[in-house]
Amino acid sequence: MKLAEAFPPFGLRIEAGPVVLRPITDDVLPQLVDLALGGIHDPRTMPFYIPWTDAPPDRLPLNFTQYHWGVRASWSRDQWDLQFAVEYEGRVVGCQGFATANYLVTRTGETGSWLGRAHQGAGIGTRMRQAICAFCFDHLDAEQVTSAAFADNPASNAVSRKVGYLPNGTQRKPRREGEWKGSQQWLLTPDTFNRGPEIRVAGVAEFRKFIGLD
Ligand SMILES: CC(C)(COP(=O)(O)OP(=O)(O)OC[C@H]1O[C@@H](n2cnc3c(N)ncnc32)[C@H](O)[C@@H]1OP(=O)(O)O)[C@@H](O)C(=O)NCCC(=O)NCCS
Repeated sequence: MKLAEAFPPFGLRIEAGPVVLRPITDDVLPQLVDLALGGIHDPRTMPFYIPWTDAPPDRLPLNFTQYHWGVRASWSRDQWDLQFAVEYEGRVVGCQGFATANYLVTRTGETGSWLGRAHQGAGIGTRMRQAICAFCFDHLDAEQVTSAAFADNPASNAVSRKVGYLPNGTQRKPRREGEWKGSQQWLLTPDTFNRGPEIRVAGVAEFRKFIGLD
C-alpha cells in the first residue's frame, strides 16, 4: 500500500508551468525548515497571525515539523488544512495552503502562503495563489476563497488584489505579545478570479472522496 492511499492529500499534485504544488511529506520538511531559517520576512515586522518565525533557530525546526505533523494528525472532514510545498523550476521555495471548516456546507476556505526571502518579488507568490485558487474552484467545487494580510504587508495584499480578490473589511488581530494590527480581509469568487496559466492536477478523485465531496 502507498501512504497516499491512507492519506490522500499526499497523492495531490498541482502543476502550473514552473510552479508545482506538492504535498509536504517528511522528505520535504528539512528543505522548508532551511528556507525558514534563512528568513521569510524582515524580523522587525510579523506577517503571520501566529508569530512562528520569532522562534530562536534552535527551536524553529522542531516547532515547524511538529506543526506540520499536527496538521496531518488533526485532519477531519469538519476541519482540514491542505498544505503544499511550492517548487519553482524544481527547487523548494515555500508553502501554499488552503484551510477550511465545514467545507461541505460552506464551500469556502482561506489561502495562506510564504516564500523564502530569496524567492520573493519575482511573481512566484502570484502564480502559486492562482494555482491553488484554480484548484479549489475547478476541482473542489469551491464557491469562495478568502485571504487576509496585515496592513503592513504590501506584497501579500498586492497578490490578493492581482488575483482578483475583493476587499472584505478589516479586523483587529493580535500579533506579537500585547500588540494588535489591522488585518485586511479579502474575498475571491470565480467571476472576479484573474486566472494564471492552466493547471494540471493529479490525485483529485481520491482527495474528493476523502473530504466527502464524492
Ligand atoms: C506574500 C508573498 C507570498 C508574495 O509572494 P511574492 O512572490 O513576493 O509576490 P509577487 O512577486 O508575485 O507579487 C508581489 C507584489 O507585491 C508588490 N509589492 C511588494 N512589496 C511592495 C511594497 N513595499 N509596496 C507595494 N507593493 C509591493 C509587488 O510590486 C508585486 O506586485 P506587482 O507584480 O504588481 O508589481 C511573499 O512576499 C512572502 O512570502 N512574504 C513573507 C510571508 C508573508 O507575508 N506571507 C503572507 C502572510 S498573509
